[in-house]
Amino acid sequence: MFQLLVTLTGLIRCALSSDGLSPSVLDPPSTFASGAWSLVQHGTSGVSGMQLAIVTETTAVIFDKVEHNPLMTEDGNPAWTAELDLNTHVVRPLHALSNTWCATGSFLGNGTLLSSGGNPIVITGQNGLQALRFFTPCQDGTCDIWENSSVVRTTSPRWYPGSVRIEDGSVIIFGNNATVSNPSYEFYPPKNINGFNGLKIPSPFLASTLNANLFPFVMQLPDGNLFVAANQRAIIFNWKTNTETPLPGIPNGVRFSYPLSGSAVLLPLIPENNYAPEVMICGGSIHLDSTDPSTFSSQFPASAQCSRLLLTAEGIAAGWKVEHMPQARVMPDMVLLPDGRVVIVNGAQTGLGGIVGIRPNVVGTMSNADHPAFTPVVYDPTGAAGRRFSSQGIPASTIPRLYHSTATLTPNGSILLAGSNPNNDITIGTEYPTELEFYSPAYLSKPRPSYKGLPATVNYDSKFTLSVQLPPDTTGVTVALMDLGFATHGVHMDQRFVRLVSKLSPDKKTLTVTGPPTSRIYPPGPAFLYVVTAGGVPSFGHKTIVGTGASPPVDQGAIDKSVAIVPF
Ligand SMILES: *[C@@H]1O[C@H](CO)[C@@H](O)[C@H](O)[C@H]1NC(C)=O
Ligand SMILES: *[C@@H]1O[C@H](CO)[C@@H](O)[C@H](O)[C@H]1NC(C)=O
Ligand SMILES: *[C@@H]1O[C@H](CO)[C@@H](O)[C@H](O)[C@H]1NC(C)=O
Ligand SMILES: *[C@@H]1O[C@H](CO)[C@@H](O)[C@H](O)[C@H]1NC(C)=O
Repeated sequence: MFQLLVTLTGLIRCALSSDGLSPSVLDPPSTFASGAWSLVQHGTSGVSGMQLAIVTETTAVIFDKVEHNPLMTEDGNPAWTAELDLNTHVVRPLHALSNTWCATGSFLGNGTLLSSGGNPIVITGQNGLQALRFFTPCQDGTCDIWENSSVVRTTSPRWYPGSVRIEDGSVIIFGNNATVSNPSYEFYPPKNINGFNGLKIPSPFLASTLNANLFPFVMQLPDGNLFVAANQRAIIFNWKTNTETPLPGIPNGVRFSYPLSGSAVLLPLIPENNYAPEVMICGGSIHLDSTDPSTFSSQFPASAQCSRLLLTAEGIAAGWKVEHMPQARVMPDMVLLPDGRVVIVNGAQTGLGGIVGIRPNVVGTMSNADHPAFTPVVYDPTGAAGRRFSSQGIPASTIPRLYHSTATLTPNGSILLAGSNPNNDITIGTEYPTELEFYSPAYLSKPRPSYKGLPATVNYDSKFTLSVQLPPDTTGVTVALMDLGFATHGVHMDQRFVRLVSKLSPDKKTLTVTGPPTSRIYPPGPAFLYVVTAGGVPSFGHKTIVGTGASPPVDQGAIDKSVAIVPF
């Protein structure tokens, strides 16, 4: 299995912890629907739910690794990629050719999902390490994954990478090869930029965050720069000039990258405060990354720390604000809700992400975590310090969601949980059939708004009108434009919430909405739009494409250079 190199890095930095008392920048304060949440189990995912992305209003894709999954392709072989119908819970096999094990995913600006990287086990003649897989969502059950590594591939091996969609609708694939060998990034489609014509670009940040920098967090900020975080550190990264600007490190020695996995979220971007970006990183572990991970114990306590940083000059000067979840979690998932809150689900209270080694008391050949965290906790970023976390009314699950589990918001506003498979192959243990679970927040039991008239594309700063039907007592509405992201290993690539400027007509039947101001605030690509009542009840989130739906820019010279590199 994967092995981290042993070095002498990793002295715990005892930064002073702050208590998060400063007032929130997220304004105006919101109200939320109160009451009980419900939890239902509906079917299984057919392939283990390692990677999960909503692709249409009614479907999701699930990518696993090559293994003996129960879902079969037509020719009688096990599938490892599938499409899930969110209404019927039927799974349809998809046909990846290479091994998607620990790949990443981001949508391009034209709505095509790009899956990149993976594992070298060759099943069908294609090595997954340099795979680029394309999936253009459809409504009729005919779309499939296309890949052909002799025609298109990454310029270098990527296993456990992160990715992000940027302002021109391209994707940056960021990260290593599960070894020390490839601390670099590259663009798809490839660019001729900063002296690197189509080729990978070295990343000093990734080189300096070994030994725990896999699945780095990468987020596009409203000024077009990227926030990148791994291990214990974070930077602002300008890809146009290839410049890194260091940010303060995460306080109190907490590490948050695989296998010491935490999760991260870009908090809602709100016009009222000029879209000031604020990030929050939760969970992980204070375990040293300088130790051979095969000696890590499943009983080592996880971290309960959440660290929040406002990415303005003042916010950076003030440093990370520390808060604590009611329960420690390693391998959590942080999912944005349309009401502006964040649900923290999945994971364990002790141990770390799957690695072969010492693992007392746990089932599974690759599991190093114990004491599953069964109860989700919801976080209100606008709440008063000390009163932001709550699990009130939220039932506990009974299904452990440990290594290789995922979660996502659905268009209907529920939270879908999938995965957990701490084995190399599903035949080794049947403890984790990867049942699908759906959490319905309290808002789903209230009278809901609905709307019609969302255009197929929503361009920047352009107005469109929706005809809305609001519950009788509605005093006002806001509009949440959301990228539901691509989830794997607790990292939610491109997950985003942008509140759009909107105006309700006096008869409360017409809502005039203005598209996001710039492609830096919402990179061109797919989005789900929720109309949310002042009481915190969202409509169904219909799908649109922000921008024009055009394909990202193509530089044929850079593509030629990138495929001229002999594949690994
Ligand atoms: C990949 O592309 C090459 C070159 O066009 C072609 O010969 C080959 O058949 C393709 N492979 C697959 C699996 O489509
Ligand atoms: C990439 O990682 C794989 C799996 O660990 C390893 O076999 C391979 O040598 C690495 N390739 C490069 C070029 O570093
Ligand atoms: C959406 O949620 C509502 C309220 O929970 C439920 O009645 C409805 O069946 C759901 N629809 C879908 C498509 O999931
Ligand atoms: C989107 O762009 C990519 C990259 O150029 C291309 O491969 C893909 O076919 C495009 N998808 C659509 C729907 O045009």
